Amino acid sequence: MVTKWLVRLIVPICILLAQPHLAAAAEEALRIGLIVPLTGGQASTGKQLANAVKLYMSENGDTVAGRKIEVIVRDDGAIPENTKRIAQELIVNDKVGIIAGFGITPAALAAAPLATQARIPEIVMLAGTSIITERSPYIVRTSFTLAQSSTIIGDWAARNGIKKVATLTTDYAPGNDALQFFKARFLAGGGEIVDEVKVPLVNPDFAPFLQRMKDAKPDALYVFVPGGQGGNFMKQFSERGLDKAGIRIIGPGDVMDDDLLNNMGDAALGAVTAHMYSAAHNSPKNKAFVAAYGKMFGSRPGFVAVGGYDGIHLIYQALKKTGGNSDGDALVEAMKGMTWESPRGPISIDPETRDIVQNIYIRKVEKVDGELYNVEFATFEGVKDPGKTAK
Ligand code: PHB
Repeated sequence: MVTKWLVRLIVPICILLAQPHLAAAAEEALRIGLIVPLTGGQASTGKQLANAVKLYMSENGDTVAGRKIEVIVRDDGAIPENTKRIAQELIVNDKVGIIAGFGITPAALAAAPLATQARIPEIVMLAGTSIITERSPYIVRTSFTLAQSSTIIGDWAARNGIKKVATLTTDYAPGNDALQFFKARFLAGGGEIVDEVKVPLVNPDFAPFLQRMKDAKPDALYVFVPGGQGGNFMKQFSERGLDKAGIRIIGPGDVMDDDLLNNMGDAALGAVTAHMYSAAHNSPKNKAFVAAYGKMFGSRPGFVAVGGYDGIHLIYQALKKTGGNSDGDALVEAMKGMTWESPRGPISIDPETRDIVQNIYIRKVEKVDGELYNVEFATFEGVKDPGKTAK
């Protein structure tokens, strides 16, 4: 009797020991390294990304296709040398199967060669320069590109009575995309650029430039600052009285991030921006997302949180599709062409470019029930990144 039981116990163990890869595959957790800025000027964006991943996992559990998901959150302070070192440590020491996050373009670019070398997916949840996805075949993006929103607001401005524009953009890759794509469309539509200013990414002081902009008397100020900096920008904008001088704000929606919008005050009223997400987006999916995020974190989610929420969803769905196989090539293949409904609306991953295809909405800041919101009033459906170089 005892021998029979022992045999029943020992034989399967021996089989597993003889095929260690099978035992490991079934039980091993899939680790995801989430590299985000949690300190420094971009800290509020890293927090939104980490929050969104936490929310998604609380709603969907931490096991997918038999694999337990473990997220390791690391702070890179939006300093690309840190991103590179942390990505290396996560890959070599922690054996992560996926890296994700990336609050700024230089961070996403710094990690790209490591993703290629390790053959693991790099999920870009925020950075928005067009070239990013071209830097590694393992990069898949769930945020947006600046070209998507800037082209659309450029056309809108030219067609809506805005003749003279001054531009203020952050002086790094996504700011340069935002400027270039806006200008091409606005100038083609007959508009005129009366002043062009670039501000540094780190510790920007907008005040001296804003005075100059006020003196140039444009119809509108075209602004790109990365998510997290809009509150500080708007404070200086209203302190210098540009709103009182009748200068409108237009731009990609980053400056009007819902995370900060409600504290910007009435100077933000009337700002017209193009973007992929508004907390006021009218869909049951978004209402549930805003309510759940508010309940868990006591704040409003912005476009950054949505990029994180969709990034982890993409990982879950890809893993379901591969039946729990976390081989990097298999995951990226599974991600290509994937389609789902996000809180922002319908989205998909372009199978050719691994970049996001999504609706871009034109929105105006209005007061709704005493709070400031980006109220969507026009939709451009299924926008691909216009910034991809022709292949
Ligand atoms: C970027 O660095 O690519 C970036 C960051 C925040 C944004 C947009 C672009 O809101």
